[in-house]
Amino acid sequence: MADLRRLEGREKVTGAARYAADVHPPDCVFAVPVPATVARGTVTAVHTAAALADPRVLAVLTHRTARRLHPVDDPALAVLQSPKVAHRGQYVALVVAETLRAAEQAAAEIRVDYRQEPHDVLLTEDHPRAYTPEEANGGHPAQRAHGDFAAVYAAAEVRLDAVYRIGPLHNHALEPHAATAWWQDGRLTVHDSSQGATLVQETLAALFGLERDRVLVVSEHVGGGFGAKGTPRPHVVLAALAAQEVGRPVQLSLPRAQLAAVVGHRAPSVQRVRLAADRAGGLLGLAHEVLSQTSTVREFVEQTAVPARVMYRSPAALTVHRVVAQDIPTPSWMRAPGECPGMFALESAMDELAQLCGLDPVELRLRNEPDREPDTERRFSSRHLAECLREGARRFGWADRDPSPGVRREGRLLVGTGVAASTYPALVAPSTAEVRAESDGTYRVLINATDIGTGARTALAVVAAEALEVPADRVRVDIGRSDLPRAPLAGGSCGTASWGWAVHKAATGLRAEPGLGTVRASTREEVKALDQSYARHAFGAQFAEVQVDVDTGEVRLRRLLGVFAAGRIVNPPTARSQLVGGMVMGASMALLEESTMDPAFGDHAERDLAAYHVAVNADVPRVDAYWIDEDDPHLNPPGAKGIGELGIVGTAAAVANAVHHATGIRVRRLPLSSRVLL
Ligand code: MOS
Repeated sequence: MADLRRLEGREKVTGAARYAADVHPPDCVFAVPVPATVARGTVTAVHTAAALADPRVLAVLTHRTARRLHPVDDPALAVLQSPKVAHRGQYVALVVAETLRAAEQAAAEIRVDYRQEPHDVLLTEDHPRAYTPEEANGGHPAQRAHGDFAAVYAAAEVRLDAVYRIGPLHNHALEPHAATAWWQDGRLTVHDSSQGATLVQETLAALFGLERDRVLVVSEHVGGGFGAKGTPRPHVVLAALAAQEVGRPVQLSLPRAQLAAVVGHRAPSVQRVRLAADRAGGLLGLAHEVLSQTSTVREFVEQTAVPARVMYRSPAALTVHRVVAQDIPTPSWMRAPGECPGMFALESAMDELAQLCGLDPVELRLRNEPDREPDTERRFSSRHLAECLREGARRFGWADRDPSPGVRREGRLLVGTGVAASTYPALVAPSTAEVRAESDGTYRVLINATDIGTGARTALAVVAAEALEVPADRVRVDIGRSDLPRAPLAGGSCGTASWGWAVHKAATGLRAEPGLGTVRASTREEVKALDQSYARHAFGAQFAEVQVDVDTGEVRLRRLLGVFAAGRIVNPPTARSQLVGGMVMGASMALLEESTMDPAFGDHAERDLAAYHVAVNADVPRVDAYWIDEDDPHLNPPGAKGIGELGIVGTAAAVANAVHHATGIRVRRLPLSSRVLL
């Protein structure tokens, strides 16, 4: 089995790896954006004289002076194109200056007049403008119904009706969004912190009315994204606009304080779950109804009820998404959008049902394992959730568990354990790749994949080495540039499957005909020909142990253990990091993370990592990730299902269920902070 250490690890720890803001072309100047200070209204004047009085200031761009851009799918990229303000923090001006300090000072001196309008930003359960959209994200129908849920529910012996709430969450990757851009002879070069340089290239070309090959986007190293860098964001457009305006390279690195308003976030959700069962825990009816929030700029409907269409057998089922468009920044992807918040509610509800039936929560899940995907009746390409639950229970030491809540006391601490399942779809997208035989006996893989810290480069080296039947140290991997063969973004956990498929195809082609020297391959036809009669998903089971201080209510995690089934694991060291990283982020969501919408200002209050708490080392005890190797012939030649997002799904429910087991208190709102428990 391959066991390859991260190829760029040395570059990263020595500081040699260059991120978007580490690029310093000659004569580079700096741009600082000015955010709107109202949540809804119209800009009536931008006072720039004070800023322009500083000779180091080269330009101030506003909606009046910025060049016109062509429209693209995401209206949030039409920066400085209109005086309308759709949310607080939206950019209303951009200062370009010789130094970063001068640009910051000048930006602080810009005064903007607004015609302010009343704003509406709080998600409330009875919001009069809530509606059912046509679709949730990912092309999922907003509603699905099987059987007569209402009748089944009314007649059932065991019933649960519970509402779960999650506030807005922000991705807060370690590296803030940044871009360094310059123009030369009508060509645009941008180093951008992005999960997909191909998409950024296409979008910039469309915005500026250029042929695609006149735009080069480089994302060689990216310090995390978790979805917030999955689509082009306003900063990259501003950097390109500014560089064109001043005729010099421009660097724009977003201050963390501005991120919350312009790079997307996980929408808050209110989720009602109703379960109907017989006394033996057999599900008869399942309803998962979700209300979430979008902006007035663009409809974004997180597909939060979708995992309930995948998980458990239930003769009657109802899954509904509703949304309300308010004066907030448009939400976007955050690690396992849909599955992550949805499974907090569903897996908490399953734990509640287990208690109502007097059943062990592992056993309850096993009793409701479906033979086919419940919503579609399709066969699973592979599904080893039951094996993950059993193996996890064994490794965790679940068998001795006393089910009674609130009885294990160690001094001031109450101790408990909880379990929840994980799931994430096995997605794949068409990709191209090239493999070259070099004269020194090494091989070069060329593909515009992105490594956002996942180990993508390393996994692709393993895939290529296996297909070429050579040791991995003879393979070099070039990724992260839009002039490399086109490839999908690092998102939807589809990277290894999608890129790996193209790399595998090119490499096997070259092995078959070495005389070719170079083979370029596309998987467009293969992906199109995939048998859609199979449902493809990864699964997992997570077990948590917590302690709760009876005086302060503080919850601390003692250990976390997950067992996953995600196809073939291409490279264990980097895969383990992905799964453990997802679980840590899930624990962070469970215990710490939350943004709060300030209704007066119309803005999220948290501006930095002092206010928006993410788990640090002291919050993270022992975390173990294991997997069951799946040999699934219905996936792709590398046999991969994707693991980047699976690890965060279910963690929060496992922790919340452990808190209930420890204390007897059911917390249906994240984070599980002391104020909820006391
Ligand atoms: Mo992930 S949230 O699909 O980048």
